[in-house]
Amino acid sequence: MSEVITGTPFLELDGVAIGFGPEKTRTDILRDVNLEVGENEFVAIIGFSGSGKSTLVSLLAGLERPTEGEVRMEGVEVTRPGPRRGVMFQSYSLLPWLSVFGNIELAVKQVFPSFSSAEVRKHVDRYIEMVNLTDACDKAPHELSGGMRQRVSLARTLAMQPDVLLLDEPLSALDALTRAVLQDEILQIWEKEKKTVVLITNDVDEAILLADRIIPLTMGPEATLADAFPVDLKRPRDRRTLTDQPAYQRLKAEITSYLVGLNKEARKLRSKTLVAMPEVKPRDFKLPSMMPGR
Ligand SMILES: Nc1ncnc2c1ncn2[C@@H]1O[C@H](COP(=O)(O)OP(=O)(O)O)[C@@H](O)[C@H]1O
Ligand SMILES: [Mg+2]
Repeated sequence: MSEVITGTPFLELDGVAIGFGPEKTRTDILRDVNLEVGENEFVAIIGFSGSGKSTLVSLLAGLERPTEGEVRMEGVEVTRPGPRRGVMFQSYSLLPWLSVFGNIELAVKQVFPSFSSAEVRKHVDRYIEMVNLTDACDKAPHELSGGMRQRVSLARTLAMQPDVLLLDEPLSALDALTRAVLQDEILQIWEKEKKTVVLITNDVDEAILLADRIIPLTMGPEATLADAFPVDLKRPRDRRTLTDQPAYQRLKAEITSYLVGLNKEARKLRSKTLVAMPEVKPRDFKLPSMMPGR
């Protein structure tokens, strides 16, 4: 691992397992998950769809409680959601009847109830500007493109000034071009604001561009975090020069082949469990005698 974390980790999953449904029939979605994220570290978690990535985010946020183990922030158990951990989901969870400004304003007023209306306005404007939406600030969500809506979501999460950003595939629903623009914006903002970030993604390039460490999540059920790939590419990173570097290409090949291996392994397991038949001897099967023509 690239980071040497001394003392209490900033954010931590310790022997965490989670399953849904009644205990007798429950299979664990996540099992024996351990994670330590340092303050200001940018960690990307990469995995296949359905493996438990959103469940992992919900655990870190305090929206779900583990059935085993503990989630901790600065050594204190996380038992419920709180303003120090800001979550951003893949779907645009904006209120359709409020403008861009209104959506962010609502969140700011909740987190900073003592702000005067002038302070609220200044604060909201600052984050709208940070995501380049100043011209669209009076628009309603339905008047915005997908990329613009995710910018509003990002601005809203940032405006609450959380210590940790939990980003659950925030860019997955966007076209490649918009995605690239937003990746660059997230990179710039992170370099300025230096937050602790856990980014969920299914895109190896996105993970390498943004993260300090990339951690694969194995296939579920009973998914767990695999060994991390450190990203030792110097910052600030620029996508135009990054992809030409041999170190980038090597890392991409390594991670991709690891993920392909995971997929193959999971298929083998699945086919074993599906193809295994009970041992029954076929009975002698005779056509009924009343069948005509014989
Ligand atoms: N609240 C829930 N109740 C029952 N099953 C759930 C719940 N949340 C997630 N799951 C199941 O857990 C598995 C992982 O889901 P999820 O964390 O959303 O995966 P990912 O985000 O990696 O696509 C899926 O099989 C999903 O059906
Ligand atoms: Mg998900």
